[in-house]
Amino acid sequence: MLVYLNGAFLPPGEACISPLDRGFLFGDGVYEVIPSYGGAFFLLDEHLERLGRSLAGIRIPEPRPEEGWPRLLERLLERNPGGDRSVYLQISRGAAPRDHAFPAGATPTVFAMVSPIVPTRPDPAEAGIAAITLPDQRWGRCDIKSVALLANVLARQQAVETGAVEAILLRDGVVTEGAASNVFAVHGDSVSTPPLGHAILPGITRQFLVDSLRGAGWDCREAPVSEEALRSADEIWVTSSTRELVPVTTLDGHPVGGGRGYPVWQRALGVFRRARDRSMGIRETGAAQ
Ligand SMILES: Cc1ncc(COP(=O)(O)O)c(C=O)c1O
Repeated sequence: MLVYLNGAFLPPGEACISPLDRGFLFGDGVYEVIPSYGGAFFLLDEHLERLGRSLAGIRIPEPRPEEGWPRLLERLLERNPGGDRSVYLQISRGAAPRDHAFPAGATPTVFAMVSPIVPTRPDPAEAGIAAITLPDQRWGRCDIKSVALLANVLARQQAVETGAVEAILLRDGVVTEGAASNVFAVHGDSVSTPPLGHAILPGITRQFLVDSLRGAGWDCREAPVSEEALRSADEIWVTSSTRELVPVTTLDGHPVGGGRGYPVWQRALGVFRRARDRSMGIRETGAAQ
């Protein structure tokens, strides 16, 4: 395995970052997780655009690798061959004597690494995850993909300690998102997901799913999802770049939709995967109907 750090491809043990790096001291940085299938990135432009917005949001000047981000990230993939993989890309404000205010002239630290992706199983019996609900205790700019993830870490840990996988966060009586995912609720033939704004990350998978479903003629709404609507949903799904679209089996220990399974999810996964394959120029996989 080789990682990328500030212009060099190195074994992880040789990649050294200063203890004065503001990513380490303050969580003063942003990141992206970009999936690749069959060696090609999926929605790379969308991820890079969000990276630009996150950097602008915390006022780090965007580093411009000479060869450009796409080529740089491709080179990292080439050095880490394998199946489907994601690239984690993090940019911090850089190393400087510790002071909360921005240092003058610090050089941003650029770090990237590759991880395997375990694809969502199209078989409903194997696909689902348990979730719990928790109050959303994060800051007011969750649209910035900040590395300061302490509240998300604690929420996810609480989920794991109760035998669940994901925590679905609630603020002022409505769903915001998962600790590391966006949330969709299904009622009958209608699919809803919380609207964009400062309260949620504009998930790349979320937007792709919304567009794909609408393109296929579905009733897919970006509208507030109340706690009550979540609890009464026929199905709940969570989306993220590494997990695609995953159904929730139980919410706070109660079977979602009375435990009748997730037929709508199965159709939605088919729509999502066909749209994904089309957008990547791949012939239909037939992995999901
Ligand atoms: C808090 C949060 N919301 C949503 C998502 C999903 O975003 P994306 O689909 O761009 O991976 C993530 C991804 O890790 C996340 O951490």
